[in-house]
Amino acid sequence: MNPPASPDFAAGPATESAQGVQLEQAFRLFLQASQDLETQQTLLQNQVNRLSEDLAAANQRLAALLGALPAGVLVIEEGLVRDLNPAARALLPDISEGSPWAVPRSWSPTPVQGEYQTTTDSTSRTVQVKEVAFGDRKILQIQDITESLTQHAETQRQSKLASMGQMAASIAHQLRTPLATATLYAGHLADPLLAPERQREMAERLRRQLTSLEKLTTRMLQFVRQRPHKTESVLISELLDEAEQAIRPVCERYSVPLEVTLSGEPSLINVERDAIVSALVAVLENALQVSPQGSVIRMQATVEQARVRIYIDDHGPGIEAAMLQSMFEPFTTSRVNGTGLGLSIARNAIEAHRGEISAANRPEGGARFTLSLPCMPSL
Ligand SMILES: Nc1ncnc2c1ncn2[C@@H]1O[C@H](COP(=O)(O)OP(=O)(O)OP(=O)(O)O)[C@@H](O)[C@H]1O
Ligand SMILES: [Mg+2]
Repeated sequence: MNPPASPDFAAGPATESAQGVQLEQAFRLFLQASQDLETQQTLLQNQVNRLSEDLAAANQRLAALLGALPAGVLVIEEGLVRDLNPAARALLPDISEGSPWAVPRSWSPTPVQGEYQTTTDSTSRTVQVKEVAFGDRKILQIQDITESLTQHAETQRQSKLASMGQMAASIAHQLRTPLATATLYAGHLADPLLAPERQREMAERLRRQLTSLEKLTTRMLQFVRQRPHKTESVLISELLDEAEQAIRPVCERYSVPLEVTLSGEPSLINVERDAIVSALVAVLENALQVSPQGSVIRMQATVEQARVRIYIDDHGPGIEAAMLQSMFEPFTTSRVNGTGLGLSIARNAIEAHRGEISAANRPEGGARFTLSLPCMPSL
């Protein structure tokens, strides 16, 4: 008996040819797929080439732009200078790629954060440093702002000259009356027939007139003085303390308590100390002059975004409507013995430090003066 035929053996040639067809199909598919892949790859490669060319062109344009920029630009990574443009090299001759970044020691800070005075043998210039951070990378922009500051100073000088013209007329007017009165008293003093008692009285009146003339001339000199003269870095708390110490005895004499508060991070301001303390005292003196006995004067300082704002609030009658417009102009006063120079000297000092001063009436009564000045965190 024949053994039963094995199924493979029985399927023999037919199965082989089916497998051959399958293989051929698979091979064709494989070929097709690899051709597709090749085409895709070529397309991708072309795209990469085009992008690389675009990138190279953009880099060239950026390099040309950075080269032509009048401002210095530096790229800082992990505290080291990675790149810098020609303007930055000119401003910082001692710095090159790879050096650690630090503001040169020869640059001294001005009252404004990020601004420095760079002094060489022949010139003194002011530069402004701005910083943009991207993760652990920083881009610094250093700009020479000497020209624009000079223009600003020139505009201020022109407007000062114009207001000095107006002032000359006011000064003559201010001095005429006390001088005429003083001359009259002096004339009486020279009278040989005047009783000794009247003589003493005339001498005292003459002394008082001369003292008030002296005060007036001192204030006028303060008004026209160029500021800031000599600046130093002072803690805001120290300035507030100094102003408080100066006014406290008078507050105590008139039974008007003074409350002083300071909030925000400890900060320094670069100022002509006496000028800023005097400005605070001038505003506090005015507040005291209108404060009813027993009412409180508040001086509140807050530090926010590199600026200190100092609010001085009183419980007086508030500022007269007409005064609100002109109180910072010289010789504007509603007081019999006032020179009307207190606030204009204060405004000059504050503005010379790139600050601002303003006044308003509070809805709940009394006046609020606001002084704002640039400051920087104390380390
Ligand atoms: N806190 C205040 N409340 C109401 N009015 C004020 C206040 N502070 C100032 N003023 C008004 O502004 C005017 C101008 O003030 P400023 O300090 O310049 O001069 P003055 O105080 O009159 O004179 P001086 O300061 O020379 O003694 C004052 O006369 C007053 O009318
Ligand atoms: Mg005053």
